[in-house]
Amino acid sequence: MTCIFSVSWIVTLSLIYNGSKNSCILITIRWCYFLCFTSALQDRDNKFLTKSVEEAYKAVECGDGHPFGAVVRNDAVVVSCHNTVLRNPNLTAHAEINAISEACQKLNQNYLADYEIYACCEPCPMSLVAIQLSKIKRLVYGAKAEAAVAIGFDPSIADAPNQKSELEIKKADGAVAVTAEQVFENARGKFLMS
Ligand SMILES: *[C@@H]1O[C@H](CO)[C@@H](O)[C@H](O)[C@H]1NC(C)=O
Repeated sequence: MTCIFSVSWIVTLSLIYNGSKNSCILITIRWCYFLCFTSALQDRDNKFLTKSVEEAYKAVECGDGHPFGAVVRNDAVVVSCHNTVLRNPNLTAHAEINAISEACQKLNQNYLADYEIYACCEPCPMSLVAIQLSKIKRLVYGAKAEAAVAIGFDPSIADAPNQKSELEIKKADGAVAVTAEQVFENARGKFLMS
């Protein structure tokens, strides 16, 4: 939708402004392509980030763990998981680790080079290193780790190591980021901390 709007706006404006000069039309087409690409990416990011937020609520609702969710995906495969540290006491069962290990099992491979990971919250250092080890190419997260620390999570989860890697990391903004931040306010006091 956003894409169609952008295209029609750009086409209209450029016709008014430039008449019908060929080079301008070419530039216009490039701009349309760029805008379509970025708005499609934005729509996709919002969709999978929202899915990770739903997983976070599920973790608390079913008593499995803490309010965190993650989705590992490419065009063919989507694996979505939540935190399960309380199900069978398992301190390492973070949403991102669960999603990475489930994807690896499903695909029967250790590396996820053409995959992206969506996490409702900025990953802790353990999960970030696991993401890097898996060679996942892109990470999109919704809430800052500080939002989880603010409701009582260990402050060390916010100490993300600043390692050099090929991983592209995007902090979401706009409405979906606010939705992700709200997970923690809504989950305050509704689950066990140990
Ligand atoms: C604990 O969770 C991790 C992460 O999902 C998993 O790899 C591991 O097998 C789990 N440990 C046990 C004993 O279930």
